[in-house]
Amino acid sequence: MKVLLFCDPGIDDSLAIIYALQHPQIELLGIVTSYGNVSKEQATLNAAYLAGLAGRSDIPVISGAEFPLSGENTTYYPEIHGPDGLGPIRPPASIQGNYQGFMHLYKVIEDHLDDVVIIDVGRSTSLAAAFNLNKNLMMKVNRIYIMGGAFYVPGNVTPLAEANFHGDPIAANVVLKYAKEVFISPLNITNHAIVTREVASYIYNSAHSVFKELIPPITEYYAAYYRKMNPGMRGAPVHDVLPLYQLLNHSFIITKERKVTVLTCDDGRGTSAADFRNSSKNDGSQRHIGLLFDYRHFISDFIKTMTV
Ligand code: BDR
Ligand code: CA
Repeated sequence: MKVLLFCDPGIDDSLAIIYALQHPQIELLGIVTSYGNVSKEQATLNAAYLAGLAGRSDIPVISGAEFPLSGENTTYYPEIHGPDGLGPIRPPASIQGNYQGFMHLYKVIEDHLDDVVIIDVGRSTSLAAAFNLNKNLMMKVNRIYIMGGAFYVPGNVTPLAEANFHGDPIAANVVLKYAKEVFISPLNITNHAIVTREVASYIYNSAHSVFKELIPPITEYYAAYYRKMNPGMRGAPVHDVLPLYQLLNHSFIITKERKVTVLTCDDGRGTSAADFRNSSKNDGSQRHIGLLFDYRHFISDFIKTMTV
């Protein structure tokens, strides 16, 4: 599977990058980095750092959005993801990488139009901008996978909204409007994709890759935040790995096909809405909303991929 990954690393984004780099069936064609958990500059550095650790400094790291389409200021999340987005790890201030400007993403897509899959695990701003600048090409991309939304379950940034959709609800609606086929991994499933301390130390003890030293400290940093917010929690949800997992494991995720709207009004900003009544009409604009998944299968796939 050829993947162009939009992200904002961030700890769970970093685990998604590592998963994509290590999975034998995934070919990572490029990483588009944007603001979100950290600044765009830090996200770019972190992506290049991880690609470099894997000996893949050739992978294009494409410069994405710095702020939402509305022009608002952004909030970063060092308390969750660490001062540089990698928990206690501080990557060097400059890293050799295959840095590319935004327009390079169209070259990646054109070169692989038949089989490229887009995965977006950050704010939707860069992907929406890609549609705005070249809608015809972007509408030819067969499948887009998104981490975002919370369908009638509590949000994680407001009582109603999930962070990616809340960060740029206008952009999320652009992508939902124009993309050919969209698979959404909302908090309904990603909140349950928990990596425990036991799983992290099993990976540390069994892995052969360069990432084995990195996984326990970043997951522990991330889990400490979740434990503080939810005492008794045994780990942390690796939200951003879910869309990559789904790509190769469709039969282990139950979806409902519904039209999705993201609210942009102040009070409900970022709330993802869909009509789940049986009577809801199929007007052809349905998106696949992940509502249930097989945790045991997920965690064994995650461990297997992380321990190659
Ligand atoms: C999403 O928000 C970000 O903070 C995470 O990286 C993930 O993409 C979860 O709501
Ligand atoms: Ca993310």
